Amino acid sequence: AFIQGNTAVPQLSQNSNQAVPKEVTILYGSQSGNSKGLAKKAAAALEANGSIVTVSAMSDFKPNNLKKLKNLLIVVSTHGEGDPPDNALTFHEFIYSKRAPKLTELNFSVLALGDSSYEFFCQTGKDFDKRLEELGGTRLYPRFDCDVDYDEPAAEWIQGVLGSLSESQIQNSVPTPAASLQTAESVYSRTNPFQAEVLENINLNGRGSNKETRHLEISLEGSGLTFEPGDSLGIYPENDPALVEFLLYELKWNQEEPVTVKQGDIRTLKDALLSFYEITVLTKPLLEKISKLSSNQELHELVSPGNEDKVKEYLKGRDLLDLIRDFGPWGESAQEFVSVLRKIPARLYSIASSLNANPDEVHLTIGALRYEANGRQRNGVCSILAAERLQPGDTLPIFIQHNENFKLPENSDAPIIMVGPGTGIAPFRSFMQEREEAGAEGKSWLFFGDQHFVTDFLYQTEWQKWLKEGVLTKMDVAFSRDQAEKVYVQHRLLEHSKELFEWLEAGAYFYICGDEKHMAHDVHNSLLEIIEKEGGLSREKAVEYLSDLQQQKRYQRDVY
Ligand code: 2AM
Repeated sequence: AFIQGNTAVPQLSQNSNQAVPKEVTILYGSQSGNSKGLAKKAAAALEANGSIVTVSAMSDFKPNNLKKLKNLLIVVSTHGEGDPPDNALTFHEFIYSKRAPKLTELNFSVLALGDSSYEFFCQTGKDFDKRLEELGGTRLYPRFDCDVDYDEPAAEWIQGVLGSLSESQIQNSVPTPAASLQTAESVYSRTNPFQAEVLENINLNGRGSNKETRHLEISLEGSGLTFEPGDSLGIYPENDPALVEFLLYELKWNQEEPVTVKQGDIRTLKDALLSFYEITVLTKPLLEKISKLSSNQELHELVSPGNEDKVKEYLKGRDLLDLIRDFGPWGESAQEFVSVLRKIPARLYSIASSLNANPDEVHLTIGALRYEANGRQRNGVCSILAAERLQPGDTLPIFIQHNENFKLPENSDAPIIMVGPGTGIAPFRSFMQEREEAGAEGKSWLFFGDQHFVTDFLYQTEWQKWLKEGVLTKMDVAFSRDQAEKVYVQHRLLEHSKELFEWLEAGAYFYICGDEKHMAHDVHNSLLEIIEKEGGLSREKAVEYLSDLQQQKRYQRDVY
């Protein structure tokens, strides 16, 4: 999985003012693939400028080679509570370990990806930036911390790095990253989504369930988009029209007023709030920017230094409507007001179908998110759009997000173990469809869990059919609320501890998809327990066993 950059011969010139080709290594780490995409963009731009570039996932890079590098660019996202993504874990650990070498010869720069609605915004990028300097490296260009809408700052960072690497100022001849980087087969991408038609939208849960899980079938016809099992679909959702109505009512602005959302894109205020801006998540940077537009003393007080904990508390479970209601009056122009809002980020869903089994279609499994906070009902933007408003025939702006960190084994004979409670089942339906279509021989074992057997067994008849036909070898289910005691997937794993370890020893791939905070964490610990017990290993050796599996890409997670 070593991606060598495009090895076009550098354009050397006799002119001594031209840039000298430089060897540059770009290491990326991300859960979703955005960092990889940006790493490739940076590589293309550098190569066009005569550099010799090597691009690699952090997990594929041999840390011992670090001290040989002259120029290193890091593109890395942050996961959960400031944690490195899975494929950055080992390298992150290495540079913070005693084995990390002195790097006095190294020039580096970091592009950090993150989401400013999280407290530890861009933490992993900050870690790398700080540590490389501590080890003696020279920062050739300042770190950029990008929010969810990262295209512009990332392009600026790439330009900045280029400028710093070039000895002469030849930026004018440097193609802009956006123009030089059309690598995909399809013209449609995250920045140019495809308007896809919804073919089917049904509720998978039975009457009386506590849950609502939508099965969506979407047409890719005419898009040229392709994907593999394990990839995700990005959707740009529309905000809840009722929430937009409330906002407009509170702000007392004319909903037909034209506002410029970006250069060359003028929309009515109503449309901008419906489909361009994020209105359901508040972030600290937004609070600070918006307070500058307000004369409200209470708001000024809240964002003043020393009140970080109060801000954190305020942001929890509140949205733009709360902010508007809590801190009026809002005299500024609509244009100024919307200019401080974030662009609505795409929602990513693990794809639940195989393109070979369902050509020109993509299926999703989406759990409807509804909850109450601060005295008001709150809705997940995209999931409630799917649950309450989206009809067959409607269209959605979509794109494919490739995920190299969650893939079927290349060898279709290899056994796979799939742990996917709730909507975590999605990619495994794709896996099974793919294996069925290919007539794969490898064994497979599914662990599924949800609240109740009768109402919540997602795709039950499909799983039973696959089991009967032998496409699926084994299936164990955990319905947590069908008995007095909670039963979860990890309990089922532990019950089959011996056989599970035999599968692992026989080369099985172990996959987890679904809730990260509780489920994936608990499954991870149960897996360690199983390896410890059945392998007769110490805890330490079991941890090593599991990280070996991870290195061999035989332990993969798609968690959220
Ligand atoms: P619960 O809601 O009854 O506690 C899918 O949502 C299933 O995952 C549900 O049955 C849910 O159980 C269960 N679940 C909740 N927390 C879990 C955890 N820590 N590990 C595994 N499964 C969990």
